Amino acid sequence: MSRVEVRPLEAADLAACGAMLAERHRRHRIAHPLLSPRFEDVNAAVAELTAAFETEDASGAVAFRAGSPVGFLLGAPKTSPVWGPNIWVEAAGQAVTDAEVMRDLYGVAATRWVDEGRTAHYVIVPADDEDLVGAWFRLGFGQQHAHAIRPPEKVATAPLAGGLSVRRAVRADIPELARLDLELPMHHGLAATFSAGRVGTVEESLADWEDDIDNPEYATFVAERDGKVIGSAIGCALEKSSSHLSLALPDNAAFLAYAAVYPHARGAGAGRALGEAVIDWSVDSGFDSVVTDWRVTNLLSSRTWPRLGFAETFLRLHRTVGY
Ligand SMILES: CC(C)(COP(=O)(O)OP(=O)(O)OC[C@H]1O[C@@H](n2cnc3c(N)ncnc32)[C@H](O)[C@@H]1OP(=O)(O)O)[C@@H](O)C(=O)NCCC(=O)NCCS
Repeated sequence: MSRVEVRPLEAADLAACGAMLAERHRRHRIAHPLLSPRFEDVNAAVAELTAAFETEDASGAVAFRAGSPVGFLLGAPKTSPVWGPNIWVEAAGQAVTDAEVMRDLYGVAATRWVDEGRTAHYVIVPADDEDLVGAWFRLGFGQQHAHAIRPPEKVATAPLAGGLSVRRAVRADIPELARLDLELPMHHGLAATFSAGRVGTVEESLADWEDDIDNPEYATFVAERDGKVIGSAIGCALEKSSSHLSLALPDNAAFLAYAAVYPHARGAGAGRALGEAVIDWSVDSGFDSVVTDWRVTNLLSSRTWPRLGFAETFLRLHRTVGY
């Protein structure tokens, strides 16, 4: 096999790279037909890639073998300080005809990223492409996060037992909803996630809920045990999320955006009941799929959502350079 030549990605490469991206997405949809069929179209894939290329400070690499393109990699920084001095390869940011080529592409693209001081690297990779995930693992990356999807099928058929019930939230629930908002960031601050994300205050959350409780774009549910609120969950359209973009944004998808159960009440069915309420709301609202995501280091959500039928579509891999 002839040698791979790698150089920085240029605007003139986008048409050929978009064709590789469309082919990657076609293969991805064999495993996950609920992903959008739109991006199997080369023009649509080129448009996504072009938008990513035009993002501020975007840069990347393209690989050729015997003059033919065999892969590309494209990243851009996010401005939020949460991610450190970062570069993100989003869902439209990579495709290869041979997974090993990704290691050559990273070698060139990451030289510039690190020269620019961007040492925290995040990449969104199709979950089922074992060879590609393996190549990233051999570049020092590990899994941080998962995106997942499930069909819109009714699930909450059995009556809840043990004094458990789930209902739509009302204005009188605002104090509990505000307290429950802190449970996820507090949990993420602990082992095994150790997130540095800020935990807000109950007061901030109370103010948000006063504004949002009647917003028809969000469906909020509370779980009660013996008449006391012990958990909450929120459903909405996936477009409301800033982390499901481009090829990772299925058409007309609902989003299980949030769920939390107080620590003392976990492990007794409330999380399942809340998740099922959001799934059923998605079906009743006419969505074509339900999407969620989780930190894979969150031992609770990473075990709960697969039990509710969510299958991983994209993995977010992460590497911090310099240690
Ligand atoms: C995630 C969370 C909402 C789940 O609520 P819960 O009441 O603990 O979950 P349930 O008891 O209903 O369990 C749901 C399913 O996950 C499984 N599960 C839950 N925790 C588990 C664990 N630690 N180990 C193995 N399985 C587990 C249960 O067996 C159950 O599956 P089953 O009904 O098929 O048996 C809750 O743990 C929580 O608030 N965690 C902190 C905040 C958070 O992570 N929110 C999710 C944001 S992505």
